[in-house]
Amino acid sequence: MKILVIGAGNMGLTYAEGMSKSKLLKKKNIMVLDKSDEKLEELHQISHFDAFKELEDCVPKADIIFVAVKPHHAEDLFKKIHPMVTSGQILISIMAGVTLGNIKKFSGIKKVIRAMPNLPAKVGLGLTSYVASPEVSRMELLTVESLLNTTGKSILVSNESLIDASTGISGSGPAYVFYFMQSMMEAALQMGFSKNDSKVLVSQTFTGAIELFNQSNLSPNSWMDKVASKGGTTQAALDSMDDNNVNELIKEAAFAAFSRAVELGKEN
Ligand SMILES: NC(=O)c1ccc[n+]([C@@H]2O[C@H](COP(=O)([O-])OP(=O)(O)OC[C@H]3O[C@@H](n4cnc5c(N)ncnc54)[C@H](OP(=O)(O)O)[C@@H]3O)[C@@H](O)[C@H]2O)c1
Repeated sequence: MKILVIGAGNMGLTYAEGMSKSKLLKKKNIMVLDKSDEKLEELHQISHFDAFKELEDCVPKADIIFVAVKPHHAEDLFKKIHPMVTSGQILISIMAGVTLGNIKKFSGIKKVIRAMPNLPAKVGLGLTSYVASPEVSRMELLTVESLLNTTGKSILVSNESLIDASTGISGSGPAYVFYFMQSMMEAALQMGFSKNDSKVLVSQTFTGAIELFNQSNLSPNSWMDKVASKGGTTQAALDSMDDNNVNELIKEAAFAAFSRAVELGKEN
């Protein structure tokens, strides 16, 4: 099996690196294409992938075409590859807001996966949600799942609107966590800790809480109950958050990202 990654940016290279660890593939069977000479030069120097500049040199050789360019480059790219593609090829797109319908229409490829990754894919802890066109067989879906899982975990959704919804939860979600971390670090600094100690206090607190959550079947609410005792310090903090409606505000923020994903889809 040969894979072509189009777009050697942040995400394209993250997935190329991840997939190069897959048992389904040999490293030499991953091709990477970028239009920028600078990126190609970098690729030749730092990576073990076959690097290409011209679509006609690599698109016909690929079983799976993985598209990781910015959404506004999609239409032009798809029109260029249209005359080169064959009916057996699978296209995986991670472009935000570019719909299955448009990918099929402009690229001419019928077997299409639309996926939404997130940034922790860079450290093998990503979450990719994906939806498939009906032309993708069950066997092909298993192959795709196994490739996506090289960067973390994946969730197959049945409805394309859940891809926009997952943008609001897992796609943009790492930024919500960083927002919370930033606030806690600022509070620690104001309490008198050094910058370095504030960082350790907060990052270890997050890592520990997530590990507790992952190693149990308890809900976040149950874990909150375990940390908080009536009239105690944690309860004072949780009451303050409830009084300020933080729970509702966080949900509102996630829905704002969801709505923006829908809007961007319409613009694209
Ligand atoms: N970053 C994230 O956390 C994240 C999360 C979810 C989804 N995504 C999606 O992932 C995609 C890639 O994002 P990114 O952050 O990796 O972007 P990026 O770093 O800008 O990488 C895109 C690369 O593709 C190149 N390119 C553009 N048009 C091309 C073409 N026609 N043929 C070949 N190469 C081309 C770009 O070159 P130039 O720089 O010269 O244009 C750039 O090197 C986006 O569609 C985004 O919606 C990203």
